[in-house]
Amino acid sequence: MKIKKILILTIAAILIYSFLPLFYFWVTPPALSNDNNRTSIEKLKNNNGDYFSFIVFGDSHNGLFTNDASTLKEIWHMNREDRFRKVPIDFVLSVGDVTLDGSEHDFKAWKKMQALIKYPVIAAIGNHDDRKLFEEYCGDRQFAFSDRNSYFIVVDNADGEPELAWLEERLKEGQKYEHTFVIMHKPPCDPYQQEWYNIDNAPWAYQLRKLLAKYRVDMVFAGHKHMFKHQRFDGIDYITTGGGGMLIEIPESDGGYLHYIRVMVNHDYVTYEVRKISPPLWLHITYYLGKEALFWLRNWYGSGYIFGRNSKVIGPKVQGLNDKEYWFETK
Ligand SMILES: [Fe+2]
Repeated sequence: MKIKKILILTIAAILIYSFLPLFYFWVTPPALSNDNNRTSIEKLKNNNGDYFSFIVFGDSHNGLFTNDASTLKEIWHMNREDRFRKVPIDFVLSVGDVTLDGSEHDFKAWKKMQALIKYPVIAAIGNHDDRKLFEEYCGDRQFAFSDRNSYFIVVDNADGEPELAWLEERLKEGQKYEHTFVIMHKPPCDPYQQEWYNIDNAPWAYQLRKLLAKYRVDMVFAGHKHMFKHQRFDGIDYITTGGGGMLIEIPESDGGYLHYIRVMVNHDYVTYEVRKISPPLWLHITYYLGKEALFWLRNWYGSGYIFGRNSKVIGPKVQGLNDKEYWFETK
């Protein structure tokens, strides 16, 4: 009985502890960051040397307490990224959707987050970020900048199709540098086929992929889908990183988890690592466990063990299938 009590009390204490960062954020809210895209870029101009790192994340959708709690945890990890003092972290990039729904309240929440990130922060605009307020709080929506041996092009494609002529001019400029990175909110490809976002067939997406290939861009970073995904088209790496805080609705096994990306540029090499961040424990219990359980249940339902008893195997005689693949027919 006593052990049970101790166990319950310990779990309660850990749960409360996991809520403290958000509580602290509420009772002692940080001042809004005064920096915008332009002033953050200004801070990069004295950087030199041919190796450095930067962090990319997206879809923090701040302004909702669940998202804020997750972003706070990610920021805690980001701020520790330089603890080995091997490679400098030059800046943090957001691929957009910094707000839950573009309100002033949400932008203020984002600016408080920005104030907590110890590196310069540069943000792209997402479809949830009000244009006017984005300009007021974050600055330019479309711009390019250089850092050391690399060129970064931030594209406004919150509404889908970007300005390809503008982008091509910047891509030409990028040829002077060893590396070119392109940042936009909506990926010009489908990171997850079982989702509403269906852009692979859009002419602009195809055109954009070909344009990025022509100029041999190193990496393209996007968000929009709340997941991690790495795809390759025409030899170009496309990274979808939308795990910056928003409640994730995609199964974890398919890339639906909170995370950010750390990219390392080392002379002519570019590598990256995914930093998977577990949600705060209270959020894990109240949301994420349930999300995974729902997908588990769905798969269980579809397994045929209990609900699909009328299913029978009719393969593997179908041409093109090997012995391990079967067609199922359900009455
Ligand atoms: Fe989003």
